[in-house]
Amino acid sequence: MGVMNDPLTTDLFPQALLAMTLQGQTDLDGFRRAARGLLAQQMLPEQVSWHSASDATQDLFAAAAPLSPYVHNGAFSDAPVVSVPPEFLTLCESVILHTDPGRFGLLYRILWRLMHEPGLRHDPLDADMMKAQHMAQAVRRDMHKMKAFVRFRSVQDETFRSRPEDGPLHVAWFEPVHHIVEAVAPFFARRFTQMRWAILTPECSVEWRCVDGDGPGSLVFGPGARKEDAPPPDAGEQLWLTYYQHIFNPARLKMKMMQKEMPRKYWKNLPEADMIHTLAGGASENSLRMIDQPATVTARRMPSPAIPISIIHEAVHADSHRPAGGRPSSLAELHTATNHCRECPIGACATQAVNGEGPLGAGIMFVGEQPGDHEDVRGKPFVGPAGQLLERALAELSINRDQVFVSNAVRHFKYELRGKRRIHKTPSQREAAACLHWLEDEIAVVKPGMLVALGASAARSLMGRAIPVTASRGQILERDDGHKVLITLHPSALLRMPPEAQDEAWTAWLQDLSRLKNH
Ligand code: URA
Repeated sequence: MGVMNDPLTTDLFPQALLAMTLQGQTDLDGFRRAARGLLAQQMLPEQVSWHSASDATQDLFAAAAPLSPYVHNGAFSDAPVVSVPPEFLTLCESVILHTDPGRFGLLYRILWRLMHEPGLRHDPLDADMMKAQHMAQAVRRDMHKMKAFVRFRSVQDETFRSRPEDGPLHVAWFEPVHHIVEAVAPFFARRFTQMRWAILTPECSVEWRCVDGDGPGSLVFGPGARKEDAPPPDAGEQLWLTYYQHIFNPARLKMKMMQKEMPRKYWKNLPEADMIHTLAGGASENSLRMIDQPATVTARRMPSPAIPISIIHEAVHADSHRPAGGRPSSLAELHTATNHCRECPIGACATQAVNGEGPLGAGIMFVGEQPGDHEDVRGKPFVGPAGQLLERALAELSINRDQVFVSNAVRHFKYELRGKRRIHKTPSQREAAACLHWLEDEIAVVKPGMLVALGASAARSLMGRAIPVTASRGQILERDDGHKVLITLHPSALLRMPPEAQDEAWTAWLQDLSRLKNH
């Protein structure tokens, strides 16, 4: 007879009476419908065996099995609604993603028992409940690891060649333990909304199409892939490795903890993992060397020398991702090039590059420091709280935001993780210097009438030297290339002020900005 036994019940109940076939490995809706129907028909858990359609296509015996009245496709009509504790539904959502073939049988048995043993929901030590909890925990851990250990590599695919403004495709290879790809994919869609990406796994693949017209983008799932289908390491990866090597502090190495957070089974797909042995091998020796060194005396802060823009340009151009023809000639070209940029480590941690926005030939170009959390996610400059304040000031001065160009000195968001929060970190001078040529390229493409430096980082990048913003605010300085630069505070500085100081600061800021009206 075409009935397979549920592996969970094989020993005790060799003869299941009904084989339930679900649509796929993670068919929760199908399982709920089927379970409701089975309960209505008073089918004991041990009378049912569970399968998914994908098991059947892989199972030689299932292919030979004749259809019999005992095989059910899971579609019961008119099964009454069953009410269960909400925690059980949450448990089902995770357990169903586990690879244990006995998971459906286990969930149906728990459901049956919840209906017939009212005390079960209050018994945390029940063997079935504990098994399900462990499975849910394993699935959650696997999901967490996928979020942490997916590493994208960029590929200049066919779409990129015909539409470079969409940016390259980013492809990652990952080997999850459980059926979690569909459940985790929305996380990557939210995190990398503006980026074209695909994650390949042995069981299924997922692609994010972010450029579906003006629509919200879509996740497209496909069959599994082979590791060879994922691209080899690229230059960006080399930079990530260098960065990893530099942040690896030997005195803080805790091998056990590291393996707990980053289990060995994930190492093979992490570019940085090849270095762990070498770095860890030398860790205790390096720590001793650090301890043996004489104590360092904190260097007195020296005023930083002016770095002429031309010198910085020469230094960074050698390694830049500029288009083959040199300086980008359009904002679209600039956008593509900055998305690739790994000239400093910030790019590898940000969601995407955030370039300036506004019309070519704008009368005014505002330059801030770097994108913040909101800007990083949306890929647009000044769309968070600082941007709202800037917009209010523009409205006060009757300047239309659509007519000005808004940009930043640094293209990527630099942050520090505190729990789940990404806290803004000021880019270092070196990082700002590495990014400067993109700003200069943008200025060359936009050809603004006048520049506005919002805060010290922007002023330094635009003027090529440190500018004391408090002393120089409201002044219009001139660059070597003749561009005029109005110096003022960054809107975030106003947002950080104590409430009692804000009115006055707001009036003074408007006064600085009102100098734009006469130019
Ligand atoms: N702060 C900036 O300097 N730039 C932005 O785009 C947003 C906040």
